[in-house]
Amino acid sequence: MKHLLIVFHSKTGNTRQLADAVIDGASSGDVGGVEVRVLRAADAGPEDLLWADGLLLGTPENFGYLSGALKDFLDRTFYEVEGKLTPLPYAMFVSAGNDGTGAVRAMERIANGYPFLAVQAPLIARGTPTPEDLDSCRELGQAMAMGLEMGIF
Ligand SMILES: Cc1cc2nc3c(=O)[nH]c(=O)nc-3n(C[C@H](O)[C@H](O)[C@H](O)COP(=O)(O)O)c2cc1C
Repeated sequence: MKHLLIVFHSKTGNTRQLADAVIDGASSGDVGGVEVRVLRAADAGPEDLLWADGLLLGTPENFGYLSGALKDFLDRTFYEVEGKLTPLPYAMFVSAGNDGTGAVRAMERIANGYPFLAVQAPLIARGTPTPEDLDSCRELGQAMAMGLEMGIF
């Protein structure tokens, strides 16, 4: 059984909507053999990263960066997992008012340090998530879970 960890933060619900669609895709009937664990960033810890074979991170873009809650999760766990990740395959989804690229750039730098390995392109949804955004999130979740199941990552 492979393990997929989904960690996200949402203040006003947009990233939550994206996360729900990602979870839906990752848990779809087409994927077996993958256990999905979903946690809010404030509730996630180093033991969750050590459990995971793959990671999906969701955040709003705040002030051109990751949300404080997701950054706090990464700050809290770095030393505890240092040297123990091989690196961990990951992808991210971002809810932004009108940009989102600052959050992506920040995550790419953090991923180098951790280390996490990007295995899917970052997904940015601007404004209230559209049906197309939610479809893309479902595809992201499913692709991540299928990649793990098939041993691609
Ligand atoms: C404090 C704060 C800072 C923000 N900074 C940005 C920003 O730098 N770029 C951007 O595109 N949107 C920015 N936004 C808008 C949010 O990213 C956007 O509303 C997002 O959908 C919120 O996600 P949530 O509903 O999951 O909390 C900001 C919102 C807040 C509250």
